Amino acid sequence: MVSSFGIRALLSRRCHRLGLGLATRATYSSQPFENDPICELAASNLRFGPGSTAEVGADLKHVLSAERVVVFTDRNVRKLPCMQVLLESLETNGISSVVIYDQVRVEPTDASFQHAIDFLTNTVGTDNYDAVVALGGGSTMDTAKAANLYAAFPPKGGFFDYVNPPVGKGLPVPAISQGSLPPLIAIPTTAGTGSETTGVAIFDDTKTQSKTGIANRRLKPTLGIVDPLNTLTQPREVACYSGLDVLCHAIESYTALYFNKRPKPETPLQRPTYQGSNPISDIWALFALETAAQNLQLAISDPENEDARAKMLMASSAAGMGFGNAGVHLCHGMSYPVASQCKSYTPASGYDTDHPIVPHGLSVFVNAPAVFRFTGVANPERHRTCAQILSGASTAPKSKQVADADVGLWLADELMELAVRLDVPMGLRTFGYTEEDIPSLVQGTLPQHRVTKISPRPVGQAELEDLFADALDE
Ligand SMILES: NC(=O)c1ccc[n+]([C@@H]2O[C@H](COP(=O)([O-])OP(=O)(O)OC[C@H]3O[C@@H](n4cnc5c(N)ncnc54)[C@H](O)[C@@H]3O)[C@@H](O)[C@H]2O)c1
Repeated sequence: MVSSFGIRALLSRRCHRLGLGLATRATYSSQPFENDPICELAASNLRFGPGSTAEVGADLKHVLSAERVVVFTDRNVRKLPCMQVLLESLETNGISSVVIYDQVRVEPTDASFQHAIDFLTNTVGTDNYDAVVALGGGSTMDTAKAANLYAAFPPKGGFFDYVNPPVGKGLPVPAISQGSLPPLIAIPTTAGTGSETTGVAIFDDTKTQSKTGIANRRLKPTLGIVDPLNTLTQPREVACYSGLDVLCHAIESYTALYFNKRPKPETPLQRPTYQGSNPISDIWALFALETAAQNLQLAISDPENEDARAKMLMASSAAGMGFGNAGVHLCHGMSYPVASQCKSYTPASGYDTDHPIVPHGLSVFVNAPAVFRFTGVANPERHRTCAQILSGASTAPKSKQVADADVGLWLADELMELAVRLDVPMGLRTFGYTEEDIPSLVQGTLPQHRVTKISPRPVGQAELEDLFADALDE
């Protein structure tokens, strides 16, 4: 039998290991906390499995009582078999009105978000639909989230009211008592962004030449339908770059500043969506990293490998559950201007665009070796765990030999080896950037407080200049 003292000691040790700070005797003495002692898991509703797309009509009709549905997609995904499956499901279940918006921009901008908002608000009309469905990659899911929010709650001060500070005002989405958002079902067709799980919508802000977004838990889709059949048609580049996004989501959320090292918000409403790493997000991040490390290459080299492809999609959603609460940090923060300021690069194939782009996952991954070489010393154990997972179980003895000071280098080397195996273009110079671009890349990163503030190692202008210089050539 364990005595009550024994249980307390056991609990204390466990809480201490988790960094929850409960190891000392707790009191209700209203001790003022400088840092935030609280973290929150906003869960997401997911259904997973091959063929699950065909169930969407029943969800809309019988669970959500929706008769009139607006489907968001891009012009390429509109032509794919998954769209046929979706439309048949709506028809079979007697959905009486279906409107399709297929103008989603690959890598959306403020203008393309506004176009979708205007379509839903004015062309369809806010009284004329009961639910929204997003079928596509992150670009489509994010556009649908933004359109659904702005059509339901038009901001009084304009588009930037809901946008993350300091680029926008960061006003909270109106409280539930003021009305709910129409339901949104998200059906991802890439194994990458995890947007089906997150309360985040990202766009390229053309004025500041960087990406930013809208982050609020109420933006989370009502349901994510995660169907591995839908990723079968991903071109190689799309599967590869979105898979690298999964890896970075997992590693960044696991190595982000621990939540209780962040300053305590003045009110609970100001607690950021990206709270920093925490014991609950860690579970998702590690599962996602292990699953992606084992399956990414298999899924890319053989799309017919159903098991590997399904596991990559599951890893993508799992990483979303983790980073949707913990956040990501510098790889993503630096990617925003890299994507936005791109003038000349276009992937050889796979991306259906009429504008130059560094695809999202690639724009993130290209910074990753430089970032982890820099952040490794801030939390060697967490970086060591990630390097160990990427390198596989056979290198367990190496893990013990690598000094704390070199763990960031080890993780960067693992990522570079993966880049070679997958034939991923690396080095910002490949995408047309030179030393002369570093000041504007830094300026595009500095306002990304949502992600830079949870970097495990603080960054300002000087550190970012060094990081971009390091990322120029790999
Ligand atoms: N909201 C979030 O939590 C979150 C997280 C990460 C990234 N993002 C955002 O998501 C966007 C990137 O999304 P993405 O990487 O999923 O790609 P995407 O949606 O931009 O699509 C890329 C290309 O792949 C094509 N495509 C998509 N699925 C396909 C399929 N099954 N078969 C054939 N072609 C297919 C598209 O038509 C497009 O041409 C970026 O804007 C990024 O900032 C959002």
